[in-house]
Amino acid sequence: MLLCLVLFPVLVMSSIVIVFKKLWQRAWPAIKSSTRANTKFDPAVLEQRRKFLKVILSSALLPAGGCSLYGSYIGRTKLKIDEHNLGFSSLPAEMDGFSIVQISDIHAGVFMDGWELQPYLEIVNTLQPDIIVITGDIISWGTHYTKPVVQALSMLRAKQGVFAITGNHDFYGDLDELCSRLEAANIKVLRNRWEKIDAANGSASLYLIGVDDIWATRYFHQKKISIPEIISDIPEKNFKLLLSHNPNIFEEAAGYGIPLTLSGHTHAGQIILPFPENHGYSFARLIYKRDYGLYRKGDSMLYINRGLGVIGPPLRINCPREITKIVLKRS
Ligand SMILES: [Fe+2]
Repeated sequence: MLLCLVLFPVLVMSSIVIVFKKLWQRAWPAIKSSTRANTKFDPAVLEQRRKFLKVILSSALLPAGGCSLYGSYIGRTKLKIDEHNLGFSSLPAEMDGFSIVQISDIHAGVFMDGWELQPYLEIVNTLQPDIIVITGDIISWGTHYTKPVVQALSMLRAKQGVFAITGNHDFYGDLDELCSRLEAANIKVLRNRWEKIDAANGSASLYLIGVDDIWATRYFHQKKISIPEIISDIPEKNFKLLLSHNPNIFEEAAGYGIPLTLSGHTHAGQIILPFPENHGYSFARLIYKRDYGLYRKGDSMLYINRGLGVIGPPLRINCPREITKIVLKRS
């Protein structure tokens, strides 16, 4: 891992240098010919232009290199616990105050092994939620990290259980092994099914629904996720909470009257620009309509967690790792 952390910024810097070198090689003949035409080989003018281009090149390289170094060594290690009280008129009064802690996109691998994960899980336990949910991408790919990550996850404790769903990356390893290890560690895997969660005094319930990743099921030619089919045996007017790795399911979930959907997947692009002020533009917005945080559509809400791990470049800039605590309130 140390080797990757050293190599990554070097690779980024080298790529930038190569790109600028290529651009320079392409631009130089044109500059040279215009210089010939305009200056008649005046060496002073040529030297002046060379100096000017060097300044431009350095001023572009320094911030880019600095950002990648910052993102790899500092930004990547930052954590934020995001806490939200969410009000729903459909929530039974007895479930008022029910708490959920969400973690997502652990991406166990070279940049997140069992040891690195452990301190975050300790923080999750200190929040003492009613349930803990893991919204997919537990591993990045392969099977090497399956056992150590599940071993670490087995330390999670919540009053009414720990639940997980699959993310697209979980399909790139041995999904059956991952799920059976999770179940053995007392983490219930919700694969297109639901669990009834009772209030502390047993007088009311909510229904926790988990679906497989919608992209992976399509890619691996599995049965299409059908929300109406999955929820058909949930007694009507009961409060439903959907876990879906991919937030793109939200429109459909809202259409079926599901009040709250919890997702991950986007990582908020791992880079969030400092503007606009209320919701910085993230790189994930290039692909997704909703990139991170809270969204509303009618009476339904979607929350997208920024994730704990990283994928692709091992950096985070203005995009700290996230542990989410949600408290359900009757409004
Ligand atoms: Fe992910």
